[in-house]
Amino acid sequence: MTISLHSPLDMHIHFREGDMMRLVAPLSAGPFAGGVIMPNLVPPVDNIARLEAYRAELDEAIAGESFEPYMTLFFRNYSEAELAAAKDKILGIKLYPAGVTTNSEDGVRALEEAAPTLSLMEEMGIPLMVHGETDGFVMDRERDFISTYDLLARRHPKLRITMEHITTRDAVEFLDRYPNVFATVTLQHLVITLDDVAGGLLNPHLFCKPIAKRPEDREALLHAALSAHPKLMFGSDSAPHPRNRKESAGCAAGVFTAPLALPRLAMLFEQHDALGNLQAFVSGNAQAIYGVRPPAKTVELEKSPFEVPSSYGDVVPMYAGQTLDWSIRSIA
Ligand code: DOR
Ligand code: ZN
Repeated sequence: MTISLHSPLDMHIHFREGDMMRLVAPLSAGPFAGGVIMPNLVPPVDNIARLEAYRAELDEAIAGESFEPYMTLFFRNYSEAELAAAKDKILGIKLYPAGVTTNSEDGVRALEEAAPTLSLMEEMGIPLMVHGETDGFVMDRERDFISTYDLLARRHPKLRITMEHITTRDAVEFLDRYPNVFATVTLQHLVITLDDVAGGLLNPHLFCKPIAKRPEDREALLHAALSAHPKLMFGSDSAPHPRNRKESAGCAAGVFTAPLALPRLAMLFEQHDALGNLQAFVSGNAQAIYGVRPPAKTVELEKSPFEVPSSYGDVVPMYAGQTLDWSIRSIA
C-alpha cells in the first residue's frame, strides 16, 4: 500500500539556531515542502534585522532543499512602520503569554497592552498565532485560555487567529465558534495522553507544553484530524532539545517528531481508514487558510517498516528505536 502526498506542510516547527539548526532543519526540509518557523529564540526574533539574519542562517542550513520557510515574529508591540516592513517577510506573528513555555519570558503580560498591535495586524491582514495557555493548573491551562481566544476573536473579527497545538476537546469545539479562528495540532497529541507521559515510568521525551491530556481530548482531536476538519492544520511543534536537557531533573518541554511525522501520520490515518483525508490535513487546509502556495514536492509513503533511529545527533526522537508500519519511499 502507498500514498503520495503533495507538498506536505508543517505549520509549527522549532529549528533553533547554530549546530542544532544545522542538524534538525534538513530533517524537516527533506520531507516537507514548507513550514512555519517559530521565533522563540534567545533573544526572540522580534525585529527585522534579527528576522533577516535568522532567515539567512536557515537558508544556508537547508540549501538545495525545496522548502519554503514561513517565518514568524515574536509578538511585542510593533509600530505600523515595523509591521509594514515585516509583512512580506512573515506569515504571521506568534503571541506567547509571558513565561508559559520555553523562551517565552519576553511574552505578553496583559492582553490589553497588546490591543494596538492586534488592531494594526487586523487592518494589515497579518495573521496571529497563539500559544494558548494560562499559568493556572497544568491540565486546565488551555481550557482556561479559551475565554481569551473568545475575546480576541470578538474584538478583532478580521484578525486571522490560529490556536497553536491544541490539546483539548474544548479547543476543538471552539474552532467552530468564530469564522476567524483556526488551529494546528501535533502528532503526539493525536496519539498519546498524559498516561503515556507520566502514567508509568516517566517519559521525558513525551513531555511538552501543552501537556498531553485525557483520552476524551485525544478522541476529539483525532476525530477532527481524521475528518480533515477544514480549520485544522498539521503543525508538529517538533521541538528538539539535547538529550541531557530531556533526561534530567528539570526536563525541557518538547517532543522531536520531524523525521517520523509523515510515516506515523500515514500509519494513523490508515488504521482509521482515513488515508483519503491526509492530504487536506497535511497541506490543503493550510493552503486554503493562509493562501500559501508551497513548492511542488511529492512524497511517496509506503506500508513498509521504518526503524526510527535511537537518536539524531544528540536529539532523541519520539518512537526512538521503535519500528513504524509506514516509511518514506521517495521524495521528488
Ligand atoms: O513543548 C514545547 N516546546 N512547547 C512549546 O511551546 C515550546 C517548545 C520549545 O520551544 O521547546
Ligand atoms: Zn511550539
